[in-house]
Amino acid sequence: MATITFLGHACFEIRHDNTCLIIDPFLSGNPHAEVSPKDIEAQYVLITHGHEDHWGDTEAIAKANDATVVACYELAHYAESVGLKAHAMHLGGGYDFPFGRVQMTVAPHGAGGGESGQRYTGVSAGFLLKLGERTIYHAGDTALTYDMKLLAEFHEVDLALLPIGDNFTMGIDDAVRATSFVNPKTVVPMHYNTFDIIKADPDLFSSRVRAQTDAQPVIMAIGDSLEI
Ligand code: NI
Ligand code: MN
Repeated sequence: MATITFLGHACFEIRHDNTCLIIDPFLSGNPHAEVSPKDIEAQYVLITHGHEDHWGDTEAIAKANDATVVACYELAHYAESVGLKAHAMHLGGGYDFPFGRVQMTVAPHGAGGGESGQRYTGVSAGFLLKLGERTIYHAGDTALTYDMKLLAEFHEVDLALLPIGDNFTMGIDDAVRATSFVNPKTVVPMHYNTFDIIKADPDLFSSRVRAQTDAQPVIMAIGDSLEI
């Protein structure tokens, strides 16, 4: 059993047994966020890539909780350079943490850090998490890629978190295709309506997922939790 709470944009908190993970904690910079970084209690901060809307409040949260940042090699070393504990990984690699397994998946997208995106922070990634019996796929910021079919071929994904906002990532058309590629039991749209440029209708995504795939779509409002 895992409890997943949507904190806005691409940020999810995942509780499993006694561990709390937070992915892409973009809170203080998100006008729609409802929790403050200081309210987060997490032992691990997983970051898909260095863009500000994903790195977000990592520094404050990791420092306050003495949490470990899990990210690609280059971004993990940036985290260490600002005084954080970090575990470096890379695409395709998996690691058995005390709470479960984390594998980094490919996510075609940019990754530069800092305000202007010019700090080198490696590549963009997604995460495939194995928590007990449950498998969760956080796609990160990504284009549709045929590699997503590999997930369905070798894993039974219980929950997929997919961007639908278009412009910087997949839009609804490709996110529906990604859903059929990954074939998860449940799919949750993310990375939309935070800014005008990524406006998307989650109900349209939802109805198309129902019509065209075997997955159950769930639209999570900010603050909503889901148990899987
Ligand atoms: Ni990005
Ligand atoms: Mn983004």
